Amino acid sequence: MEKPFFKKGETKKSSVKELLASSRAIEGVFVQGWVRTARDHKDFAFLEVNDGSCLKNLQVLVDGGLPAYGALADFSTGSAISILGDLVESPGKGQKWELKAKEIELVGSCPPDYPLQKKRHSDEFLRTIAHLRPRTNKYGALLRIRSQLAQAVHSFFCDEGFFLVSTPILTASDCEGAGDLFSVSAPAHENKEEFFGKKAFLTVSGQLALETHALALGKVYTFGPTFRAENSHTARHAAEFWMIEPEMAFADLADDMDLAEKFVKYLVGHLLNFCQEDMELFFAFVDKSLQEALNAIADKTFERITYTKAIEILQKSGKSFEHPVAWGLDLQTEHERFLAESFVQGPVFVCDYPTQIKPFYMRANPDGKTVAAMDLLAPRVGEIIGGSQREERHDFLKAAMERQKLSKEEYGWYLDTRLYGSAPHSGFGMGFERFLMLATGITNIRDVISFPRTPGSIAY
Ligand code: 4AD
Ligand code: MG
Repeated sequence: MEKPFFKKGETKKSSVKELLASSRAIEGVFVQGWVRTARDHKDFAFLEVNDGSCLKNLQVLVDGGLPAYGALADFSTGSAISILGDLVESPGKGQKWELKAKEIELVGSCPPDYPLQKKRHSDEFLRTIAHLRPRTNKYGALLRIRSQLAQAVHSFFCDEGFFLVSTPILTASDCEGAGDLFSVSAPAHENKEEFFGKKAFLTVSGQLALETHALALGKVYTFGPTFRAENSHTARHAAEFWMIEPEMAFADLADDMDLAEKFVKYLVGHLLNFCQEDMELFFAFVDKSLQEALNAIADKTFERITYTKAIEILQKSGKSFEHPVAWGLDLQTEHERFLAESFVQGPVFVCDYPTQIKPFYMRANPDGKTVAAMDLLAPRVGEIIGGSQREERHDFLKAAMERQKLSKEEYGWYLDTRLYGSAPHSGFGMGFERFLMLATGITNIRDVISFPRTPGSIAY
């Protein structure tokens, strides 16, 4: 449909972001967006228009003499409009520029039952309208930050000489051995019960596939969705989440922690330097201590302690925890948070966990009791990264697989990689949503992913 003042290929469209950053007034500007508020001042009106390009709105002045002023009722909160006007200096406070409208066209009307009429809504309410919440300031900011950080993940690994590998979503193996797998089924065909001829699942981690590529390309990473059918009703667990997994050949656990630390610092630096406008919202309205916490992450060297030391610290803390603390038991979120928030007051690596609480692929330490594992624990969030040096010795790995009753038929290919030119190698996985919680101060994982999937809930 041809617009009266918009000719495809002829009229240049500007984003609100570009206009607000303009160094000069501009005649004949074309913008499209959604009305956030309309204020009638009797012989003129102001529309606040947001087009998603940035947090700020563009103030649009609608003069009483314009036909659009007569149609003001159409430009209600939430409606989609096109505006042609001149970018002029704003005499009012709060903005340098405003758009003096010449013509306004209604693209999509918005009736008064639009749920986002008022300025602030609870997170709980917004979760019930996940299809509309991107239109709020907070989710708009979160989504722009999420996108920027995803790009930064790729820049980091590219700069560090890593190759991106697309590991499979459909898989026949259970990487973590925890049995939290979603199974995948399809209609039977050619009299076969299973589509693939055997059971298939959604991946819980790309690691095993990634290791085969690290032993060829040296440094690789994957960044994709992962699925876990854990029945965890917490603010930190989602059934579908995104994971960033690097894997390096000829690298030990210390190299792994070095990479993880550099990576976290890079992402935090990116947030502080390139996402300032959106981050201001989280500093001001979500967590007042966030800015300081992020600065500290960027500046301070991360502490490294062993699991055995961590247990000692927890036992001597004098704090009564809900879950028991004893050598051999896994750390719970309350323990992780205590270590990061009270003991270190910053991110802390805990390494060398007991063999029995970790997956089969982790490298056995000489003490015979622990494996070369590391978790990075962060204040407020707890574990954001889990990684390890992998068991590269064929006989050790074979024994570990036998102990955990992994079948040779299913995992023979993995064992093979330890037969042909095996080399020490290490990697980790970072939960992207966990990092976003750390980055924004948002305390529920359901609010850092567009369409959260949790036990009992898949609304879309
Ligand atoms: O510690 P995890 O289970 O480690 C692995 O999957 C390894 N195979 C990764 C590797 O070494 N390549 O998971 C890694 C990270 C966790 O530290 C956490 O941040 C996140 O993934 N994570 C979850 N995030 C949201 N919801 C869940 N249910 C998660 N489970 C793990
Ligand atoms: Mg873990």
